[in-house]
This record gives sequence, structure tokens and C-alpha cells, in this order.
Amino acid sequence: MPRVIDRLHSEHRNLERLVRLLDRQPSLLVSIDAPNIGLLVDTLYYLTRFPDVTHHPLEDRIVERLRDRNALPAGLAEEIEAQHVTLARQGLALLRDLEGALRQETMSPELVEVNIRLYSERLRHNMAVEELALFPAAVRQLDDEDWRAIEHSTPPREPDPLFETLAETRFAELRQAIALEAVAATPEWSQGTGEEAGS
Ligand SMILES: [Fe+2]
Repeated sequence: MPRVIDRLHSEHRNLERLVRLLDRQPSLLVSIDAPNIGLLVDTLYYLTRFPDVTHHPLEDRIVERLRDRNALPAGLAEEIEAQHVTLARQGLALLRDLEGALRQETMSPELVEVNIRLYSERLRHNMAVEELALFPAAVRQLDDEDWRAIEHSTPPREPDPLFETLAETRFAELRQAIALEAVAATPEWSQGTGEEAGS
């Protein structure tokens, strides 16, 4: 398995943890309290500053390479690139809405709530399309030279500020929520045995 695909798969596992966390947040309509919004803000802050600037551009390079080889249907290539553009745009808009809510500015909880659900579904769908169609096509069609070109065409990768380094202290609360979510998602029989759900 090419190193780039391994990395993208493992980043998807981390993104799935965040999608589950978004799905399980109490409804903003019932609990529009600051801790809940703070966690959502940190999640969107991370998603717009790491996956949107490293993970998705790397996948876009793979799409371009496959398109150059006529090894990916044009409709699918456009679909994946459009999904990345929409996720980045909607993530930034949601972040603005949530930060406005933290400052007690006027907002529509109903609209933010719906947009969070849509965002989370879009991200889940985007990962499914990539794992079902993009990654298998890339593994089949691209050779070592392609993978070298793809790696060299993207900037050197910084460590993931949420999952790979503890230096970013603003994510302390989010890391704790992810850890608690993993415990909640683990069947009781396997808790305390070192097995972790979703890993
Ligand atoms: Fe992806």
C-alpha cells in the first residue's frame, strides 16, 4: 500500500472520530451553552486549519494525476474536488456562526444545527467516496514515480495539531472529549482491555 494512501486512511479514521463527536453533541436547540459551542468551535477550527489545508489538497493531487492518466471518470474527479471546496467553505461559515454565538451575537440555532448535521454528513460522504472509488483507483493505476510526484507537489507536512502533537493547548478539551467518546463507543466487555473503538 503506498505510503500516501496509508496516511490518508489513518487521517480518515481520525476524521471519523470527529464526525461521531459532532453527531453526538447535544442539540443546540436544547443546550445552547458555551461549553458545547466551545467544543464545536474547536472542532471546526481544527477541520478548517488542518484537513482543509493538508488532507484534501493531497487528495486533489491524486485526483489530478488519475485524471491525467484517464484513470478516473471525469464526473467523479469533479465531484470529489467540489466536495472539498464545499467542505472548506461551509466549515469556515459554520465557524463564523459558532464564534458569533460565543460572543452572544444574534444567531439562528435552528439553522446552525441543520448546517452542522449537513457538514458532518458531507464529510462522511466525501470519505466514503474516496475510500470506495478514489483510493482503489490510485492504488491500481499509479506507479512509484506518480507517488513521488504527488508527495513533492505538496508542501512538507506539519504534524497534526490535534492527533499527533500536544503542543496546541487550545485542543486540550477537544482531545478529552474524543477520548471520552471513544470510551462511550467501546462495548463494556472490552473496556479496560486496551482495545479502543474506531482505532
Ligand atoms: Fe479524505
